[in-house]
Amino acid sequence: MASRISRRMWMKSSAALTAAAAAGPMAVAQGPKNIVIASSNGKEACRKAMEMIKAGEDTLDAVVAGVQTVELDPTQHGVGYAGLPNEDGVVELDASVMHGPSRRCGSVAGVRMVKTPARLAKLVMTETDHVMMVGQGADQFAKDMGFKLEELLTDESRLAWLVWKKSVRDKKGHTNWSSEVETGNATAELKELFPNVDEKTLAWAREMAIHPITGTINCLALNSKGEMSGVTTTSGLAWKIAGRIGDSPIIGAGLYVDQDVGGAGSTGRGEENIRIAGAHTIVENMRHGMTPQEASLDALKRISRNFKDDKARLAQFDINFYALRKDGLYAGTTLWTYESGAQKYNPVFTVNDGGESRHEKCVPLYERRA
Ligand code: GLY
Repeated sequence: MASRISRRMWMKSSAALTAAAAAGPMAVAQGPKNIVIASSNGKEACRKAMEMIKAGEDTLDAVVAGVQTVELDPTQHGVGYAGLPNEDGVVELDASVMHGPSRRCGSVAGVRMVKTPARLAKLVMTETDHVMMVGQGADQFAKDMGFKLEELLTDESRLAWLVWKKSVRDKKGHTNWSSEVETGNATAELKELFPNVDEKTLAWAREMAIHPITGTINCLALNSKGEMSGVTTTSGLAWKIAGRIGDSPIIGAGLYVDQDVGGAGSTGRGEENIRIAGAHTIVENMRHGMTPQEASLDALKRISRNFKDDKARLAQFDINFYALRKDGLYAGTTLWTYESGAQKYNPVFTVNDGGESRHEKCVPLYERRA
């Protein structure tokens, strides 16, 4: 009996690997090796993490240090310091970490005064017997751990928030703060309201107000010993209601790592990911023999199913998954690619397998044509 089961399992995984090989070079498993993957904004994070992994450092220390480069970058407005704020103009950060070898995890949410929430999430994991800390308690814990508590809103992020705030309209067409601005109008009108701001910055702020971002960076690592870790960190949905928490700090949604199987993470519309426990779903799919690509596309299909596959409603948001299996096989997937006339947009993700970080195209569930 035992041998029958194990033969069936062998055949299943063998079939999965054959399918993976047929799917192209990206899908070819190569066994445990040093590899780091991340969302599109993770080139520097992957470079830093790979440098540390090559130096023999722990995979979790590597990915946390990697994403910290993005958290501290004032030009990155979807992650860490300089993230776009909530509707009250307050930056609230979320992050989670998972360490394969020790099978432990930690997360923080709604952090308001710490530039590097991923490092704080790691301290929740290593210094407490809790898994998740939120809000004021998480900021206090950071202070107790020696973090400097700092203002996270930069002048640029504040400007984008002001442009959004002045353009929010109620059903009667009134804005909260004035009746002067339509975000759809030219930046020339904004220039009158913000005379001291240059046009390029105003155009950026207008774009942010119209199309609020869910920035987020997810980063997953495997080393040649087969050890795995992952991290996800974000400032969440811009202009969110104060206190809104997305998927990034939710273990099993924005991040999941199982040392025996692999890891997965997400960027994009967190609410839809939480509804399907995306990262855990993907890891479980891989446990049952799916390739990272198959496992992630299945998760996207579950999101689609939640909307009865109604593409008009699904078109209202974006979501991406990243998956790395313990044998080094990996994939980036996305709900949508876009094509509008000559313009094509295919979301990408980042891979570093020891050289330069590079972008590879995400495999889409749907292709949108305008
Ligand atoms: N995926 C990030 C968020 O929804 O907050």
